[in-house]
Amino acid sequence: MFETLEDRPVDGILRLMQEYRDDPREVKIDLGVGVYKDATGLTPVMRAVKAAEHQLWETQDSKVYTGLTGDPAFADALIGLVLDGAVPREKIAAAATPGGTGAVRQAFELIRLARPDARVFVSDPTWPNHLSILSYLGMEMIPYRYFDEESRGVDFDGMIADIRKAKPGDVVLLHGCCHNPTGANLNMTEWQAVLDVLLETGAVPMIDIAYQGFGDGLEEDAAATRLVASSVPECLIAASCSKNFGIYRERTGLLMAISSNADARKRNQDTLAFLNRQNFSFPPDHGARLVTMILNDDALRADWMAELEEVRTSMLGLRQQLADELQRLSGSDRFGFLAQHRGMFSRLGTTPEKVAEMRRDSGIYMVADSRMNIAGLNAQTIPVLARAIIDAGI
Ligand code: LMR
Repeated sequence: MFETLEDRPVDGILRLMQEYRDDPREVKIDLGVGVYKDATGLTPVMRAVKAAEHQLWETQDSKVYTGLTGDPAFADALIGLVLDGAVPREKIAAAATPGGTGAVRQAFELIRLARPDARVFVSDPTWPNHLSILSYLGMEMIPYRYFDEESRGVDFDGMIADIRKAKPGDVVLLHGCCHNPTGANLNMTEWQAVLDVLLETGAVPMIDIAYQGFGDGLEEDAAATRLVASSVPECLIAASCSKNFGIYRERTGLLMAISSNADARKRNQDTLAFLNRQNFSFPPDHGARLVTMILNDDALRADWMAELEEVRTSMLGLRQQLADELQRLSGSDRFGFLAQHRGMFSRLGTTPEKVAEMRRDSGIYMVADSRMNIAGLNAQTIPVLARAIIDAGI
């Protein structure tokens, strides 16, 4: 029967991971998948995660199922981290999910169950898997302008004009911080204007927040999500712990559904439990438990925050060094945007042909749309990348 299956193109980001591994060259630079790497190229287990794992190993006496939507203590802890009391807890339905992707998938399914004809407005560009999952679920998507190819910042007027076309029953998907793939973000005045449009149109915001703590700081990165979530009647938030806790493979995420009243909250909560049951039954617990332990223990939390801050500032340092090196080589400020962008990624703003040329000639692996993982750089590779960018005539 399976001969009827069609060939499936591999996700471009994951294909790039494999091509990098297969490249026999000694000097090669991996700027592909969104995984943090330290200066030695390692993706370390964070100190607080190790300590919590140790404690868990000593104290955990059962691995019996948790609830269908996960341990409520995890939901409480992560809601605290993301929203910090901006929305009353009794308005929030929540379900633990396998990673942030699981939260995104369950959010789309919740929308489709509620409104089969909902249109989802997506930034152009957005994380390719948003589009892939929406298309798989047969949901209509409407791109809104986002990236200004000229300035490499946000095309704010274009964005506002496009999301104004949303109607009640539509959803506007927003990146809470550290926009993936561009690295270009809204400031708080612009977020306020986006919120005004959401209130005018009656469209429901869905916020994907996968990089809290990687941009301007834990609180700063959540400020836009808190502003929107506390001002609209309904809102979906998909949060990931993969990056900020460095627990990628543990698949730890949470979907929050802010509801307009207690009845709606109960229906949302029951529907999230139903969706988990249909798709995978109980969500993974190991990562969620570690996150709960870290957030609820003063010493572990302080140590985690300190290490996350080191990660964040190291990426800021790499951004600045790359921008400085490019300024030196080009004699111009045209790469200044690299230091302005925030999070793990920057979109360089060049063609797939030039991206392929840099891979062929210099062993530099970035996504075809010219997204670079800044954490893939170090003091030795920054000059190599800068030289390749200039040699490619970008
Ligand atoms: C990325 O965008 O590289 C990450 O979110 C990893 C992934 O699953 O694509």
